[in-house]
Amino acid sequence: MTQTLRMLAKEPRILKKLQKEVDLLPELNVETTRNCTYLAAVVNEALRLCNPLPSGAYAATPPSGVQVAGTFIPGNTQVIVSHLGLMTDERYFPRGEEFVPERWTREWDEGIAEKKAFVPFGYGLHSCVGKQLALNEMKLGIASVVRQFDVVLGESYSEDVWQEEWKDYAVLQVGALPVKFLERA
Ligand code: HEM
Repeated sequence: MTQTLRMLAKEPRILKKLQKEVDLLPELNVETTRNCTYLAAVVNEALRLCNPLPSGAYAATPPSGVQVAGTFIPGNTQVIVSHLGLMTDERYFPRGEEFVPERWTREWDEGIAEKKAFVPFGYGLHSCVGKQLALNEMKLGIASVVRQFDVVLGESYSEDVWQEEWKDYAVLQVGALPVKFLERA
């Protein structure tokens, strides 16, 4: 949520576009937001670039070992695939370091984002059981804020400080985010 608000405060174009979509809803709930394509795109893009588990989750190879891209990994070896590394890889996400929700929509003409490389909730047998709950909460939380407020960065915001305070303790810890919520007219 914090990360998403930061991106919206940094990108007024995206904030305005999102507000335009959300303003049309009669009320906010899981049903009414289900078909909000831009809201879903903003959430996806936040999960891609600002994933709460940037290093990914540990997994073990099967006892017989496994061949990965020409390299044999012995059995019962602990492995990890960096979610952030994969989700910013230019082969799957052109302009991978940029926050561009349009990549999840038909507006994007640089090739739709590669769904298989989008792994904020992990993959396979042990992927996140809370995925749908988390997506619903994120969508409703963000929609509620932008419906009522414009979000702008506070004067004390510094990109360098923000980047320095970003700590990966398996689960991401971010620093304080100075933002202002301005009541919309
Ligand atoms: C944005 C929010 C969330 C993110 C990014 C996230 C991400 C993840 C990831 C990456 C994994 C590991 C998957 C793997 O091992 O490959 C995981 C596992 C898990 N998550 Fe989440 N999660 C989120 C929210 C939640 C919520 C809200 C719940 C419960 C209400 C939840 C419950 C679980 C559980 C129980 C597992 C373990 C599944 C297993 O080992 O079988 N998560 N999550």
